[in-house]
Parts: sequence; C-alpha cells; structure tokens
Amino acid sequence: MEQVGFGIIGCGAIAPIHAQSIAEIAQTRLVAVADVVEASARKLGAAHGAEIYTDYRRMLERKDVHAVCLCVPSGMRVEIAETCAQAGKHILAEKPLEVTSERIDRLIRAADRNRIKLGCIFQYRFAEDPRLIRQAIDAKRFGRLVLGDAYIKWYRSQEYYASGAWRGTRRLDGGGVLMNQGVHQIDLLIWFMGPVKRVTARTSLIGHKGLEVEDLACALLEFENGAMGSIEGSTAIWPGHPARVEVHGSDGSAILEDGKLRFWRFKNEAEEDAVLQARLKEDSMIGSGASDPVGGLKHEGHRRQIEDFAQAILERRAPAVDGREARHAVALIEAIYKSAETGEPVDF
Ligand SMILES: NC(=O)c1ccc[n+]([C@@H]2O[C@H](COP(=O)([O-])OP(=O)(O)OC[C@H]3O[C@@H](n4cnc5c(N)ncnc54)[C@H](O)[C@@H]3O)[C@@H](O)[C@H]2O)c1
Repeated sequence: MEQVGFGIIGCGAIAPIHAQSIAEIAQTRLVAVADVVEASARKLGAAHGAEIYTDYRRMLERKDVHAVCLCVPSGMRVEIAETCAQAGKHILAEKPLEVTSERIDRLIRAADRNRIKLGCIFQYRFAEDPRLIRQAIDAKRFGRLVLGDAYIKWYRSQEYYASGAWRGTRRLDGGGVLMNQGVHQIDLLIWFMGPVKRVTARTSLIGHKGLEVEDLACALLEFENGAMGSIEGSTAIWPGHPARVEVHGSDGSAILEDGKLRFWRFKNEAEEDAVLQARLKEDSMIGSGASDPVGGLKHEGHRRQIEDFAQAILERRAPAVDGREARHAVALIEAIYKSAETGEPVDF
C-alpha cells in the first residue's frame, strides 16, 4: 500500500477540516464519507469527489477504505469504532476519544484485538511551540517544575448548544467546557507536567440554560512530581480569550496561547531563545476557538496529525497520539467531575 484510503464518518462541523487535510497529503486519499443525514454526506462528498453513504457499515465494505476519521458526536464513538475495528479499518477519532475512561478502554481493547491503529486528534500537539516546551522539559531547562496551568476562557452562545441535540448532554458530550472545549489544553498540560496525583475541583452552570453539564470549572491540581497547578474553564465569558497553557519552573517559564508561544524565558539562555523570542507575536497555526467553534480553526494541526497517522499505518508503527495517550486527559476530567460532585479531593 502506498496511499492510505480514508473514509469520514460524521459529516458535521469538524469533518471539512479532515477532508481538506486528507486532500493535501500525498499519502492519503478521501475515498468516501458517511452520515446518517444524507444532505450532510452529500455536501462534503460533492466538495471532495468522495462516494456518499448514509450507513457507514456499507462504506466499511469497501476495500479501498483502509482508515476512518471518526467525526461523530463524542459519546457515539465506541459502538461505531468496534464495528470499524472488526472490519479491519484503522481509526483516527476526534477528541475526546470517548466520554468516559471505561468507554475508552473498550475502544482500546477493540483496536488491540483487531490489530488496527487507533489515534485521537489532539492537533495542538502538532504545532511547533508545544513541542519546544516538551523538549525544554526533557532537557531540564525549566529546572524544578513548580506550577502548570490551563485556562480556557471561552464564549459559546445558547444557540451553539442548541445547534446539535448531543451538545451539552452528559451522555454524548460527556461534560461541558472541560470535556468538550478544554480537553485540548488539559491534554497539553499533562503532556508537559506529567501525571496528576490529586485533584480538588468545583464546577457550575452559570451562563446557559438547560445544559446537563458545566460551563464553569475550577480545579486545583497536585502533580506527582510535587508541582501544583490549576485549570480554569468557562464557555460563559464574553468575548472569549485565547486558551492558555502555562509552565513555570525554578529556572524558566513558558506560556502558550492557542498553541503559540507568547512567553519564553530561561535563567540559562540558549542561542535559539533569541530566535524564538523574535517570533513570539506571530499568529497561531491552529487558530482560536475562543468565540467561534470551528470557523476560528485552521486545519494545519489536523493535516500534520493525519499525515503522522497515515505514516504510522504505512510504517507499521504507533501513531504519535494513540488511544492510551489520549485517555489521560479524559481520566483527569472525570476526576475533576467526581471531586466537584462529592466535594472531596480525588486521588489517582
Ligand atoms: N479537534 C477540534 O478542535 C474539534 C473541533 C470541533 C469538534 N470536534 C469534535 O468532533 C466531533 C464532532 O463535532 P461536530 O462539531 O462536527 O459535531 P456535529 O454535530 O456538527 O457533527 C456530527 C455529525 O455526525 C453525524 N452522525 C451522528 N451519528 C452518526 C452515525 N451513526 N453515522 C454517521 N454519522 C453520524 C451527524 O449527523 C452530524 O452530521 C466531536 O467529538 C467534537 O468534540 C473537534
């Protein structure tokens, strides 16, 4: 196989970003798309010259579909993924991989059993700047890690939640600002700071009506390495701000906004620091979801991740963000919800 044939399941808001990315990668080709709403499949399929299906199981019968992008609502993935895995199709799912760690474990087991690749979109990990922070942590440039924070201060209108019956529901969205919007920054935070030992949290619904999930959350984190940190998230803040992830150590600090470095200083300066500091004000390659769920997004992060996933299939290696890696953020968010519900700290 020289080219990986992709099918997309779920042709809603995020699907065009996948289709555009697949079209731009030499080793990938969009073969077919599937959606239970025929008009949605038709619109995406027509734009990319892909075959159209209303039953994804028919699409899986095609031998030229080697992998699927799973762009259905978050809590609908596992049943569909089990069918895809049984059909021998590799699976690249949108974030969060599923809405509970239990359901994620089912997905991982299905992938292992059927020997297919399982990946989860966390496109911020494919921007250059988060990788620079990860490398600086590995090189011990921050000294001792002291504080690590994620701030998701976004705006989502009541109409946004009304735009899909699954949005804002416990069963299919899995949670509110943390599980849906904040999962990207929470994934980055754990990638940088390492495992969390204990979490204490509060959540609330303050700016929207009729949601089963939070639009406001604060969590205090204690990491295994002794550092502390906080997560603050809301979708009830107008006009919404760039999402921030901060890493602070005894010897240096870095701050990301929408996956782009805004601050980068170390006690022991290196030659490359000046080059980085000169481009601190450049635009984010991911774009901003602060007030616009998908319109504010650029596709470059998805393109890089889908390319990595296709190469993982061709080279028979693991993708950069596999199922086990993607599970950490969901497990932490679950612990935050549990702490908010019980009023007690939750230990890992
Ligand atoms: N990576 C990112 O930055 C990002 C951004 C937006 C959304 N997402 C994720 O993408 C997923 C989808 O979000 P969205 O905003 O595109 O939702 P959406 O509601 O716009 O689209 C979901 C689509 O899935 C279809 N669908 C439902 N059940 C199906 C089935 N059984 N078979 C085929 N199609 C089916 C629906 O008809 C709909 O068209 C969510 O998990 C969300 O978290 C990720």
